[in-house]
Amino acid sequence: MKRADHRGQTDITTDQREEIIRLLRQGEDLSPEWARVLFPPEKREYELLYHGKEREEDIIADTLAVPLQKARCFGRSTSSDAWQNKLIFGDNLQAMKSLLQAKRSGELCNADGTPGVRLVYIDPPFATKQEFRGAQDEKAYQDKLVGAEFLEFIRKRLIFIRELLADDGVIFVHTDWKKNHYIRAILDEVFGEARFRNEIIWWYYNKMQGNVNRFPSNHETIYLYSRGNTFTFNTEYAEREGGVQRLLKRKWDSKTKRLVNARDAKGALIYIDTDERRIDDVWRLSMLQPADRTENQFYPTQKPETLLAMVIESASKPGDLVMDCFAGSGTTIAVAEKLDRRWIGIDCGKLSIYTIQKRMLSLRANIGNDGPKLAAKPFTLYNAGLYDFSQLKQLGWDAWRFFALQLFQCRDQPHKIGGMALDGYLKGSSVLVFRQTEPAVRIDEETIRSMHEALGSRIGGRMFIIAPALAFDFQQDYLVVNGVRYYALRIPYSIIHELHQREFTALKQPSDEMAVNDTVEAVGFDFIRVPELSYETGSNRLKGGGQKQGYIRIKKFRSEAVVRDTARKTGNRETLSMVLLDYDYAASDMFQFDAVVYAETLENAGWEIRVPAEAIGDRMMAIFIDIYGNEAREVIPATKFGLTKKGEPRRIGAPTTRREKLLT
Ligand SMILES: C[S@@+](CC[C@H](N)C(=O)[O-])C[C@H]1O[C@@H](n2cnc3c(N)ncnc32)[C@H](O)[C@@H]1O
Repeated sequence: MKRADHRGQTDITTDQREEIIRLLRQGEDLSPEWARVLFPPEKREYELLYHGKEREEDIIADTLAVPLQKARCFGRSTSSDAWQNKLIFGDNLQAMKSLLQAKRSGELCNADGTPGVRLVYIDPPFATKQEFRGAQDEKAYQDKLVGAEFLEFIRKRLIFIRELLADDGVIFVHTDWKKNHYIRAILDEVFGEARFRNEIIWWYYNKMQGNVNRFPSNHETIYLYSRGNTFTFNTEYAEREGGVQRLLKRKWDSKTKRLVNARDAKGALIYIDTDERRIDDVWRLSMLQPADRTENQFYPTQKPETLLAMVIESASKPGDLVMDCFAGSGTTIAVAEKLDRRWIGIDCGKLSIYTIQKRMLSLRANIGNDGPKLAAKPFTLYNAGLYDFSQLKQLGWDAWRFFALQLFQCRDQPHKIGGMALDGYLKGSSVLVFRQTEPAVRIDEETIRSMHEALGSRIGGRMFIIAPALAFDFQQDYLVVNGVRYYALRIPYSIIHELHQREFTALKQPSDEMAVNDTVEAVGFDFIRVPELSYETGSNRLKGGGQKQGYIRIKKFRSEAVVRDTARKTGNRETLSMVLLDYDYAASDMFQFDAVVYAETLENAGWEIRVPAEAIGDRMMAIFIDIYGNEAREVIPATKFGLTKKGEPRRIGAPTTRREKLLT
């Protein structure tokens, strides 16, 4: 890794110089990131200095792009529109690097044809609550990024967001009052002070006030920056009450088929369209309440839809592409859908992905999520960084070749040497992508030697061969023939460390509710490995009577993940993160979860999940998720709990929420 240069000066390395000369000789375009190398940003008068701050160009160049693998499509596309909304499971930094490639190849556009994302809203985890808890609770303190590391985590993501934005795009950054001064300084650096447009204060009036020895906090801050000089801004209006503007939930107007502000009893719009009522930068808006049944997904730190409606309506128009790369419960994308925007949501938590999936499949048209049902436009769920290998094998040649080249960050450039067709380049050396058509076709020392006969010294000092790990008949990272190194790039990996000079770290899933909003930094990729699971089921009443309950007692849970993670846990049940339950899975093949039970709770309850017997449908589905994001899925018929249809009333009404207390 190159040294950080806090002044933003660049000293072009020999490698970079050679790469520029090579690109120019070949008549290729220089991609935008070279601009920063060739023309370093003017020295700033001031800058936030901290340990481990990397140069922007290194961040852009060194981040791994992880290919987006389609995991599932929701809804069938009927329109001729080539765009499809995207929900991405993975680390947002790596996923954004892939999206950047998509932007460059013209696949990331607004409906009006402008390339890039028109509006980004992010609400990253700040974990400051846990910071203060840290002294008494070491467990909560452990894995979290703090101080300089945290700032660099955010800065890296802001740099990629800026690159992904359309020239006239904007970003809203939701911050925490304890960290916002740093975030604003970083935003000034990444976007430029001249692009700072607003400091919005979200003033909530219904937060529980603790008995603190200072003024209780009653607001959060949202910063608005534009990427360029121009950007969309729609003036918004709102009713005032005692001189204070009050943002209202939008309602679905069936006559105009649009969302409009609330109407009074006579059907007239409540707000009056005059300048005096223009919405300013203090937004008085209720926090989401547990009693808010229609909207609340019970996801920690979920934001209200009204807030996102203001954000999206003020700085975009229908058809624009909206992105939230810390998607959480999916408030941004649910509102984007209601307001007819295109959307991309990214989150590294399985809980978030399942919450969003369920939310998007049970949308209501009004902001606040009541009113008529709204069928979401088709969207695709992608894996970025954790792949289903069996699906890869079914890929056609073109898709497999693309995936292989992307995975190892190779340049896709077919060429021929000694009559042999090669696929691209990696660090200046040729790459061959190999597809194992049948198990008997293998790469052994003999294959390499005959390849070398064809290629000879024209191949240079080394060559890379990408193939499924099982296709190689030798274990070494490379074989040497006449001084030429033939590297085996195995899918999954073996040589990544040498190529990228870094260790892989896995996607981390939380084991308790406090950790749901931890920052997660995953580097690299892995393949899905179904954890080993055994459990017992049954039903009984707890001592002292009470209602009958079904139980699942987890006997064994072991992860098969192979990720190189120094802190890797191997003991029984140690890698369990959470169990998601759909009490009545019989209705469709769509998992719609009713409850989440964290490993921490389970451990305290003797690894037993308890569910009221009457809530269990003909079949229940349980997804046991490990801390790396792998799943063991189980469909458990009611009979396995000793519950038969006869005599056992099934499901008295739907379970209220997934927070419905599991009787552990
Ligand atoms: C504060 S929550 C967002 C809540 C959201 N605004 C809502 O209304 O529900 C932050 C989210 O960021 C996710 N996250 C943290 N680090 C991430 C990373 N590196 N990549 C993607 N998502 C990440 C967490 O899983 C969490 O869901």
